[in-house]
Amino acid sequence: MTISELKTLFQNEISELYSKSEIEELFSIFCEHHLELNKVELRINLEKEVSEIASKQFSEAIAELKTGKPFQQILGETEFYGMRFFISEHVLIPRPETEELLELAIRKIKEKGEKNQVFDSAQTDNSTILQPYHAPTRILDIGTGSGIIPIILKKHFPDAEVSAIDISEDALEVAKKNAEFHKTKIQFIQKDYLKEVFYPAQTDQEVFDIIISNPPYIGIEENVEIEESVKDFEPNLALFSPTSDALIFYRKIAEDSLIHLSENGMIFLEINQKLGPETLELYQEGFSEVELLKDISGNDRMIFVRK
Ligand SMILES: C[S@@+](CC[C@H](N)C(=O)[O-])C[C@H]1O[C@@H](n2cnc3c(N)ncnc32)[C@H](O)[C@@H]1O
Repeated sequence: MTISELKTLFQNEISELYSKSEIEELFSIFCEHHLELNKVELRINLEKEVSEIASKQFSEAIAELKTGKPFQQILGETEFYGMRFFISEHVLIPRPETEELLELAIRKIKEKGEKNQVFDSAQTDNSTILQPYHAPTRILDIGTGSGIIPIILKKHFPDAEVSAIDISEDALEVAKKNAEFHKTKIQFIQKDYLKEVFYPAQTDQEVFDIIISNPPYIGIEENVEIEESVKDFEPNLALFSPTSDALIFYRKIAEDSLIHLSENGMIFLEINQKLGPETLELYQEGFSEVELLKDISGNDRMIFVRK
């Protein structure tokens, strides 16, 4: 079978489930993965024969796509923030909104680092020079899933001490695999954050400079509005608030941060677009700066807090 014939088969098989442009995109994603051909190479190799192994891989992919399974789960990986991450049915598929949260966090942490630069004097042979000195920034990610947030932050701030909590042992397995793949050292902790006094450290005096989180934020009553493919294939634990209070994580992070966030420390939260003002309200007391930010689609999506 040629690639062109394979493409026709692929299109026909899934045409009832996906739009023409989605099928085009999916076909090129699977070609990149199984045939190692990018979009340009694909166009000039349409008459090339497909190996038996590859055509079997495509048949399996078609069968899975027909069930509504997200292509990232079929491939077992996804691209996020320009990097490759493993995923499984135990973790949320990283979303573009979280890339925006990371962009914001990276920009603000860099700005803070520049302002806070402390200068150490160092003696050379015959002069004293000033060298920048950075205390390691302590970062905590709550509800880490596939580990995208701590891994990307560690890549940008290699000197930071980065910790990440998740309740799901299975999610942490994926996160650890990703951390190893990207050669980043992160402390992963399996805990129910809602039951944790704060952080399972040696002392309850534990203080962080950055707290970041994209916690489960869909309220129970919003269940009906969520696409079936999301509900069927992504972990409920990652999507839905465990109680009728959709803000339960945000409430606890606000309370904990009063004690466990350093002076001038910062909080970055991805939020439910329908609950912007309500989430912001939780951070009105005890913090010097609080801001509700929109995502690229114009929805209330992030909260930035400075102590
Ligand atoms: C919305 S997902 C975010 C995953 C990842 N940070 C991302 O942005 O793609 C929320 C994560 O919180 C975890 N989680 C849910 N309840 C938790 C709890 N009580 N304590 C700690 N983690 C929890 C879920 O397992 C899931 O991985």
